[in-house]
Amino acid sequence: MSYLTEDTSAEVVNGRIGAQTDPRLREVMSSLVSHLHAFIKEVELTEAEWDYAIEFLTRTGQMCDDTRQEFILLSDVLGVSMLVDAVNHRLPEGATQSTVFGPFHVKGAPERPMGATISLDGKGELCLFEGRVLDVDGTPIENALVDVWSDNEDGFYDVQQPDIQPPFNNRGVFRTGPDGRYAFRGIKPVSYPIPDDGPVGQMLAALGRHPWRPAHMHFMISAPEHARLITHLFVAGDDYLASDAVFGVKPDLIVGLEPVAEGDAMPPAEQGEAAPVKWRAQYDFRLKKQG
Ligand code: BEZ
Ligand code: FE
Repeated sequence: MSYLTEDTSAEVVNGRIGAQTDPRLREVMSSLVSHLHAFIKEVELTEAEWDYAIEFLTRTGQMCDDTRQEFILLSDVLGVSMLVDAVNHRLPEGATQSTVFGPFHVKGAPERPMGATISLDGKGELCLFEGRVLDVDGTPIENALVDVWSDNEDGFYDVQQPDIQPPFNNRGVFRTGPDGRYAFRGIKPVSYPIPDDGPVGQMLAALGRHPWRPAHMHFMISAPEHARLITHLFVAGDDYLASDAVFGVKPDLIVGLEPVAEGDAMPPAEQGEAAPVKWRAQYDFRLKKQG
């Protein structure tokens, strides 16, 4: 029989794991317990700090509902989401880099015709996003679904302002043809603070960190026989590229927006869309094969 002491704590806890336990669960949990115990010894955690941690995690859970996921936010600002992404997406040379998914994707956004406008509230300067979805060897991918979403000109996603913004504002799904091309009218992205009115925001403030994300457009691209790509395009020159609150920036994902002159060729817009496009962002995505 072994009793728990400061020296033996992790060993004793892990020694209780049953013989029939799933091997992966054993590996993950025993490593978690070992690191957690080592951390407590290293910082000599006080009882007041332990109390605070429990209360902080409780408030984090209580803040979560259908549209607010404070635990994901916590993972994001601690760099955990990006590290899990890095470990799980070691991509071949030439494949487009992935980045953090974030809490604001909505399933079931409407499939829109190529070139359509996703900004439904009429705010912001229109920007044409265009390019191709390719295999890593440069072959165009037909029937790729390009699911895009962004905040509006005021820095909020539609789900954060259900009484103000129209549903599916700044969201849409586009399907590539045989040439792999995609094109849509979004807004010129604006930087925005992640929700900071909860425990995660308090933690950032206590650590002297700001909550801002550099301006970006989200992309989730799925195609037959290819690994799904979740990524963003960031706007070159943004003030927060080097200090993204969730560490999502990768240099290859930064694009320069080019101004569009009056009379420049544009893909046709849907009927009734008269607003002029002011900016253009060009980017080819390269997907790795499944498996
Ligand atoms: C986003 O880009 O939508 C996002 C990502 C992580 C945390 C909060 C927002
Ligand atoms: Fe975002």
